[in-house]
Amino acid sequence: MCGIVGYIGPREAYPIIITGLKRQEYRGYDSTGVALINNEGLQVYKKKGKVSELENALLGKPLSAHIGIGHTRWATHGEPSDVNAHPHESNSGKLAIIHNGIIENYALIKQDLQKKGYTFKSETDTEVLVNFIEDIQKNTQCPLEEAVRMAMKRVAGAYVILLLDVDHPDTIIAARKGSPLVIGIGKGEHFLGSDATPMLEYTKEVVYVNDYEIAIIKADELVLKNLGNEKQTPYIISLDMELAAIEKGGFDHFMLKEINEQPSTIYDCLRGRLDAKAGTITMKGIEDNIHALTSAKRIIIIACGTSWHAGLEAEYIIEELCRIPVEVEYASEFRYRNPVINKDDVIIAISQSGETADTIVAIEKAKEHGAFIFGIVNVVGSSISRISNAGAYTHAGPEIGVASTKAFTAQLAVLMMIALKIGKEKGTLELKRYMELLNELENIPEKVQSILRNADALKPIASKYKNAINALYLGRGYNFPIALEGALKLKEISYIHAEGYPAAEMKHGPIALVDNQLPVIFVATHDEYHSKIVSNIQEIKARKGKVIAIITEGDAIIPSMADDVFFVPPANELVAPLLSVVPLQLLSYYIGVDKGCDVDKPRNLAKSVTVE
Ligand code: G6P
Repeated sequence: MCGIVGYIGPREAYPIIITGLKRQEYRGYDSTGVALINNEGLQVYKKKGKVSELENALLGKPLSAHIGIGHTRWATHGEPSDVNAHPHESNSGKLAIIHNGIIENYALIKQDLQKKGYTFKSETDTEVLVNFIEDIQKNTQCPLEEAVRMAMKRVAGAYVILLLDVDHPDTIIAARKGSPLVIGIGKGEHFLGSDATPMLEYTKEVVYVNDYEIAIIKADELVLKNLGNEKQTPYIISLDMELAAIEKGGFDHFMLKEINEQPSTIYDCLRGRLDAKAGTITMKGIEDNIHALTSAKRIIIIACGTSWHAGLEAEYIIEELCRIPVEVEYASEFRYRNPVINKDDVIIAISQSGETADTIVAIEKAKEHGAFIFGIVNVVGSSISRISNAGAYTHAGPEIGVASTKAFTAQLAVLMMIALKIGKEKGTLELKRYMELLNELENIPEKVQSILRNADALKPIASKYKNAINALYLGRGYNFPIALEGALKLKEISYIHAEGYPAAEMKHGPIALVDNQLPVIFVATHDEYHSKIVSNIQEIKARKGKVIAIITEGDAIIPSMADDVFFVPPANELVAPLLSVVPLQLLSYYIGVDKGCDVDKPRNLAKSVTVE
């Protein structure tokens, strides 16, 4: 989704903005632009394509300035083009705006403005918004900040905007409702970003702007106000993130780096929480709310994408260990249907970014019904972490690759700890099994490491199947959500159509696709359904399908049936998904790379989906 960057202060703004935009490229975008104010006035440059293309096109332009804003656009209203790219200027040419989000009632506002003689160059809602603000300013002769406030009261939708006014070259005005905005506090300078990555080398002190707040940002002053024009105290937090965390560190792609980081990210997630020897799990968010959690009549998990798959895995684990009914909902459906939510329901919201628009609105809806919200989030300080009643961070560090990998395994680790803790507390999990599972979980980082050591074994499998048109991923029980996640990874990264299915359900449809070309990937680590999945493999082989199986070391049956196998270390079936997903991530990665796909920024996808 769109990325925004801004700078005001004594340094040159342009290089900070361009570097910041490059760091936010992972969010997904199709065009880019900057606006600067210098001695020659307001300079606006924009272009379809990559940030580097804009940079090349701007060589020799008057780019020296100490105030500026920059944008990467992910098209919503109007195709990706130079004209639709941000920034957009107002009709007078005095204001320039960048915007992340959607103005839902822009069509009506546009009609009104057109009646007044305003003209529009682009198809965007953003150009409507900047002229709406200009029109309010003209009619009321008020300061820009006031015009923004009035506009915010009248526009519907989710957005964050940054505005420059050529008549006030010492101020950036920002406003937020529903999309993320971080302000970095320097000495006599301020940095702005959709996330903290553009400012990491300059400051660790940041403010997360809240919904319905307007920020008036000068080099040496930051004023936050609410819609009632009351000053708000900026809540400054210190970032615990180093520049190295957002660099590739010698890997060809962020995705590969992040897959390889999993032994340490899972370890970091468990560290300080799980102590297998002492038999303890320390999680403040759980302990403070243990009554709400153990007495929950039902747990509803809401999430999107890969996080939804982590939620589905949690359904199996929580029901097994805690005997609490669990429902797993796509946030985008939950927010629009009329779900039954009771006061003693607990909502677990899962999100890597903490900014997914559908998940945020679904949480707000559940809150209105009095439900208790427990957020599982990776990005510290993100919106979901702030609107949840309690929560747990996954501590996977910044995830830049669009396809989620290390965030997923960290989510599984957190969910597993939560289930173990509730199960023990409720008495639904006997001590022996609890201790055994604690041990199993503690050993996961080392086992993931051993899978990674053997990653090269997946390369020939990847080149063998890279030209497939379709692929089927099958698993049973705890491995069913992993089959879904494996299929999602393949389609995201390589554009091969892939479906995940419960292995037995395959007979009710997907089996019609099986021929001697179709790769069928079985997630078949050792569990109580092993003999059942062996039968499913036979069903595929009988129809000449190609079988690739992820199996447990020592499996004596499947290697003789499958075309290709990859072994993972033995583990209890509840924690085995943390292992079986890793070869599937790698397989997708190698296929994507073999096919020449842009694995870190797959077409049309966005890392953080801040529009519904
Ligand atoms: C996008 C990303 C996915 C992610 C999903 C949910 O589609 O490309 O990788 O799983 O959003 O995002 P969240 O940040 O809420 O986990």
